[in-house]
This record gives sequence, structure tokens and C-alpha cells, in this order.
Amino acid sequence: MRALVIYESMFGNTRAIAEAIGRGLARNMPADVVEVGVAPDTVAEDVSILVIGGPTHAFGMSRPSTRRSAAEQALGELVSQSRGMREWLATASVPLTAATAFDTRVGKPRLPGSAAKGALRRLRRLGLGLAAPAESFYVGGTLGPLAEGELARAQAWGEHLAVSVRSAASRP
Ligand SMILES: Cc1cc2nc3c(=O)[nH]c(=O)nc-3n(C[C@H](O)[C@H](O)[C@H](O)COP(=O)(O)O)c2cc1C
Repeated sequence: MRALVIYESMFGNTRAIAEAIGRGLARNMPADVVEVGVAPDTVAEDVSILVIGGPTHAFGMSRPSTRRSAAEQALGELVSQSRGMREWLATASVPLTAATAFDTRVGKPRLPGSAAKGALRRLRRLGLGLAAPAESFYVGGTLGPLAEGELARAQAWGEHLAVSVRSAASRP
């Protein structure tokens, strides 16, 4: 049993959340955390939970145009410089494992729309069983920082995911 976390991130906030989720998962099973540009296009059969996340852009998953806009606002190099999770999800081959999605978005004012909800719809269309509802983690503004307590909440969410996947697997 192992977990795979795939993340997209422009300014680093979603990467930090993905790493915290990975630490939580790793308390119960081995967990790899991989940037979407270098993520495998075919997910291995021994992955028992796939967790995918990215920043919310224009009320949903990023697109090439919103990533260009992020690049214009960035103070340094973007973390994800090739594809986003929308592009990965469009072509990936995933075994019938459990999966869920997360995103980062601005906490105040809270806007409608979530990248994770879009990703979850795609995971469902791929026929995957959902391990948990989509989850959002909040930033203070477009560039960040993460809102207080979000790293701890992400780690706890990861830990909870691994426990529920393990207990589902042990049910007769
Ligand atoms: C082009 C663009 C569009 C955005 N649209 C939204 C939005 O619709 N809703 C929202 O809450 N945040 C929006 N944001 C803020 C992002 O969610 C925020 O930049 C992201 O959570 C930071 O994560 P990252 O550092 O991993 O890129 C947008 C940011 C950019 C650059």
C-alpha cells in the first residue's frame, strides 16, 4: 500500500500543502509527493491512494492562460513551469484506486469555485472511488502566505486519508 500526491503550484503555497499532506499520509503508509510536470503519466498498480491538488485559478483548475498571468505576478521562478493538473488529468492512466483532490484558494474574501472540485469530477469520470470529499486550504492573497494553521490541517487531513484507506482495505 502506498500513497501518491501530485501537486501543481505557481508560487509554492500548494507545494507546501502537498508536502504536509504527504507527511500525514506517511504516518500510515509510504507516500511520494511529486510535482505534476514530472509526475508519471501512468500511475503504478501498487498506489492505493492518489491525491492531486493545485491552486484555484479563475474559479477552477489552472489553464495555460491563467498560468501566464501567474508568471507575470511572480516574484521569482514558478514552481510548475510545464503542465498543470488539468492537463495531467486529461491524459493520465490511473488504476482503479481510491483518490481525492485538494486546492489552495484565497480565504478572504472567499470566492466561489474550487480547483479541487473540478479535479474530483474528473477523477470520478475516470471511474476512481473517492477516498474523501475535495478539500480547500487557504492563502492570504494571490502570492500567499498560507493562512495560519493550514499546514497542520493539511497534515491531519493526510493522516486521516491514510487511516480511512487502510480501514476500507481491511474490510471483508
Ligand atoms: C491567474 C490567477 C487566478 C486566480 N483565481 C483565483 C480564484 O478564482 N479564486 C481564488 O480563491 N483564488 C484565485 N487565485 C489565487 C490562487 O488560488 C493562489 O495564487 C494560490 O492558492 C497560490 O498557490 P500557489 O502558491 O501554489 O500557486 C488566482 C491566482 C492567479 C494567479
